[in-house]
Amino acid sequence: IDEKKALITIFGGTGDLAKRKLYPSLYRLYRKGYLNKHFAVIGTARREWSDAFYREVVIESVGDLAESPAHVAEFASHFYYQAHNVTDTEHYDKLKELSETLDAQYHLDGNRVFYLAMAPSFFGTITEHIKTQHLLTDHGYRHLVIEKPFGHDYESATVLNEQIRKVFEEDEIYRIDHYLGKEMIQNISAVRFANTLFESLWNNRYIENVQVTLSEALGVEERGGYYETSGALLDMVQNHVLQVISLLVMEPPIKLTDAEIREEKIRALRSIRVMASNEVNDYFVRGQYGPSETDPTLKGYRQEEHVAPDSTTETFVAGKIMVDNFRWKGVPFYIRTGKRMKERGTQINIHFKNVPMNLFSNEDQENLCPNILTIFIQPTEGFSMRLNAKKVGQGLHTNPIKLEYLNPTDKGLNTPEAYEKLILDCLNGDSTNFTHWDEVALSWKFVDVIQDTWKQNQPDFPNYASGTMGPACSDELLAKNGHKWFWNE
Ligand code: BG6
Repeated sequence: IDEKKALITIFGGTGDLAKRKLYPSLYRLYRKGYLNKHFAVIGTARREWSDAFYREVVIESVGDLAESPAHVAEFASHFYYQAHNVTDTEHYDKLKELSETLDAQYHLDGNRVFYLAMAPSFFGTITEHIKTQHLLTDHGYRHLVIEKPFGHDYESATVLNEQIRKVFEEDEIYRIDHYLGKEMIQNISAVRFANTLFESLWNNRYIENVQVTLSEALGVEERGGYYETSGALLDMVQNHVLQVISLLVMEPPIKLTDAEIREEKIRALRSIRVMASNEVNDYFVRGQYGPSETDPTLKGYRQEEHVAPDSTTETFVAGKIMVDNFRWKGVPFYIRTGKRMKERGTQINIHFKNVPMNLFSNEDQENLCPNILTIFIQPTEGFSMRLNAKKVGQGLHTNPIKLEYLNPTDKGLNTPEAYEKLILDCLNGDSTNFTHWDEVALSWKFVDVIQDTWKQNQPDFPNYASGTMGPACSDELLAKNGHKWFWNE
């Protein structure tokens, strides 16, 4: 294993994301040897913490992953803390000093990762100071990692992008969409491009519709404040959902390199039909959860902390996305995502068209069951294929049967964390699984029409009970085309 040398500076080092995802992922990389002797981490945030206290926090966040107390302590000894006010120029000078000391001490070759894991309103200020206060080295690489949200519409995203681009080149910017780090999302390309069986049928001649469900059982928890400004459309659809759609829709790339894949994804996003505002209600519906009808502990969204009692923020979105190109003309891509749904699960269901004529007589149905390919993203990971086979016994009747492969890593034991993979990609300079500006821009243009239209109409909320699969309008959306949501249990 090739050890990665770098100084990783985390803005927002005391935050939730750092503790829940970044420190454990860095530790996993350390355990595997990708990080070894030649790395250091600077955590910065407003609070005054000592290195000793910071290291305790890091150790605690690693939790059960620790190989031994000595091993995790050795890991944590690479962590340094610097209190920081992002608008104070002098603080950047201190950061620079510390960075140079650590570079010399750990032999980091000038490699820098700046990880912005904090409120996006500061992204511009921070990057500007990184430049003016000379935190960029003249040798080694400099990678900027940014968390979402990347703006709140096309216009604000453009402003933000321009600010960042004054300091970093596009190929130095790693915009995180953690769905792209998920094992089974990365598997979409393998299913498609390593199997004749699927790639030959992957078009409007054989596919009736595609369904993507990202359902969560949890509510907004303690993130009401953030969620009120975002809602499901910005929180999930603008990024994760459209990224998944682009991977399903794209043409085969010439090679599996970041530049080639990116080009195809951008073309895929360009072929998604942007609605006119008077079409939005025909294609997209929204919902907000109310209290559960059976479990008194599950409150409605409007009763959650930091949420307005008359909030019109959507916690559920379902939509029909049309792709205007030769391959996909006429095939609806149905998407739905929501909080407080029946269960946590992400799955993609590809519904194939029926054979031209049904030769079998089944008492209970006129048509055969369609063939459905399910890609289980999480928490179950794997594939399942629904086929028709003869019912055992007299006569020619059919039964749907299921061929299934579930990853033995079902429990998530061996599957690398999405963040672990993405951080390693960034240390390797591989941006395949990050979002390019062109993708962000196209996604916003699609989503802006929906958000602008929705702002003009008051929704009638709440419209689904906690613990259900969403509002009735979501089922009606598919029923209009004679389709039905499919959930592979
Ligand atoms: C995040 C959203 O991007 O994705 C959260 O901000 C959501 O609201 C989360 O809960 C879902 O991620 P995962 O990996 O749990 O599916």
